Amino acid sequence: MYILGIESSCDETSASVVEMTDTERSIRSNIVASQIDIHRLYGGVVPEIAGRAHIEAISRITYEAIETAGISVSDISAVAVTTHPGLIGALLVGVNFAKSFAYANGIPCVSVNHIHGHVAAAYLSDAELKPPFLAVVVSGGHTSLYRVSDYTEFEEIGGTRDDAAGESFDKIGRVIGLPYPGGAALDKLAYEGDPQAIKFPSPALSGDTLDFSFSGIKTAALNIINSANQKGIEINRADLAASYTSAIVKAICKKVGMAIEKTGLRTVVLAGGVAANTHLRAALGELCAGKRVKLSMPDRALCGDNAAMIACEGYFEFVRGNVSDTSLNASACDIM
Ligand code: KG4
Ligand code: ZN
Repeated sequence: MYILGIESSCDETSASVVEMTDTERSIRSNIVASQIDIHRLYGGVVPEIAGRAHIEAISRITYEAIETAGISVSDISAVAVTTHPGLIGALLVGVNFAKSFAYANGIPCVSVNHIHGHVAAAYLSDAELKPPFLAVVVSGGHTSLYRVSDYTEFEEIGGTRDDAAGESFDKIGRVIGLPYPGGAALDKLAYEGDPQAIKFPSPALSGDTLDFSFSGIKTAALNIINSANQKGIEINRADLAASYTSAIVKAICKKVGMAIEKTGLRTVVLAGGVAANTHLRAALGELCAGKRVKLSMPDRALCGDNAAMIACEGYFEFVRGNVSDTSLNASACDIM
């Protein structure tokens, strides 16, 4: 069956058609209209501007996705839309568009949790993947570990108590003058520096917990940068990028290693925008190989926000009968 996915939780307007059966998962189209160029001017996402840009793009993007898929509207079995978590004004655009589209075409509308969608991106890159597994979701807004017992059953077993990893990359990237969002640029720059040059506090909280805190490492980096600026000393940006990345990657690997031992799960899924980080992919690959645990990661192009992942997770919600009526709403929080 064909599922139309709609994603508008942050600064990407996306629509996608995926073809899903019991045995096959295929992306027929996945159109992403990024607002990065608009928000770059402000060094971060401006919610009000994001909502307006979604309104301008959503209809065009949706019909482009349907046309690119080579199907007609009547071929679509259900519309899956990100309802939470995210920027409320941005989410509402996608939710209202999806509800109207579903109502006008007499098809069901399915609510999808954005984080569950990120994890579902892994099903689109790995045809063999199925629950149960440990999911590691690392994005601009989240750094969480989940026990995924079924396609729609997620139990959070660890997470950040303050900032997210992606946000920490973006903040430091901005301060050292890298283009917004800084994550991808820091990833590249880190190859030119020494990961041992600067000792940062670990974002992995000590003890038995699977939780993180990124505020300490962010503040430590800012102090180094500010103090160098005050003294008129030029910092080695590559060393900073390499050491900062290394500390974050090590912290994530440490907690993933602990979570594998605690849960006994033999498959790990790495997802979310920061899952595109090449250092993290390599380090987690090594960790999982050492523990003889399967590691599944979405293709790098599917790590960032996109509607194919929402359509994929929407399919699993749909086949479990989780469809919504016209009272469906959006929520900024993780829980509806
Ligand atoms: O999942 P996503 O597209 O949006 C949220 O749901 O938050 O994640 C965006 C985040 C940004 O912080 C961005 O800098 C980061 O993912 N990111 C990266 C890389 N590519 C994107 N972080 C580190 N290394 C990368 N290669
Ligand atoms: Zn996301």
